[in-house]
Amino acid sequence: MRIGILGTGTLAAALGEAWAHAGHDLVIGGRSRDRAERLARRLGDGALAAPPREAATERDAVLLAVSWDGADEMLALAGASDGVLEGTPLIDPTNAVSHGEGVLLTDPGESMARRIARSAPGAHVVKAFHLFPADQWTSRPTDGRPTDVRPPVTVAMCGDHPAALHVTGDLVRAAGAEPAVLGGLDRVHQLEQVAGFVIGLAFTGADPNSAIPRVAS
Ligand SMILES: NC(=O)c1ccc[n+]([C@@H]2O[C@H](COP(=O)([O-])OP(=O)(O)OC[C@H]3O[C@@H](n4cnc5c(N)ncnc54)[C@H](OP(=O)(O)O)[C@@H]3O)[C@@H](O)[C@H]2O)c1
Repeated sequence: MRIGILGTGTLAAALGEAWAHAGHDLVIGGRSRDRAERLARRLGDGALAAPPREAATERDAVLLAVSWDGADEMLALAGASDGVLEGTPLIDPTNAVSHGEGVLLTDPGESMARRIARSAPGAHVVKAFHLFPADQWTSRPTDGRPTDVRPPVTVAMCGDHPAALHVTGDLVRAAGAEPAVLGGLDRVHQLEQVAGFVIGLAFTGADPNSAIPRVAS
């Protein structure tokens, strides 16, 4: 796939590494051209750096890997209001969550994914990849265990467009996880709240996994 990555930080690098290893073509667009070039060089495997608009144009999928409060600015740089992302699966991994406490910073009834959909008219927004720390996707996570011996994880996703969910599902598998669709964007606030739940519990010192009942699938 031809994938655009908007953002040059920790998550862009981690998913970029996984997707480059899986053989996908990556174009990195950051507000800093220097950082985009540095990341593209680090990823190797033919990854390129380009201005955000070019990185977002004619891609099979675009990952918006920026801080939640930079999403609108990055989408503007990518030309989203001119329709550059029309029909493109736009993967939203953002967490608008207060550091440590896990309180959601979006307005009541609002979600980042819907906000992003409004700022990128015609884009096929899929919420995904927001729940796991970035090193889940790297070959050498901080726990030192390589990807092939880590327990399998499920990436829960929401989106309104079956084709975009399909493409994102393929990218989830390329990163070594299994995709699961919770529902459309009308349910995305549930997924975004889970991030707040996990971060909030982890901050109290509890293991969030231990707070979820084991339910047979
Ligand atoms: N890291 C994780 O473990 C993780 C896991 C799940 C989800 N996420 C989510 O993924 C997103 C990226 O996280 P990250 O850890 O990669 O963050 P990060 O390392 O801090 O990188 C943030 C990126 O956002 C860009 N950015 C910030 N404000 C911007 C603006 N106004 N306009 C354009 N670009 C802007 C930064 O550009 P500059 O370098 O130029 O400042 C940088 O490329 C966040 O929404 C985060 O909640 C992260």
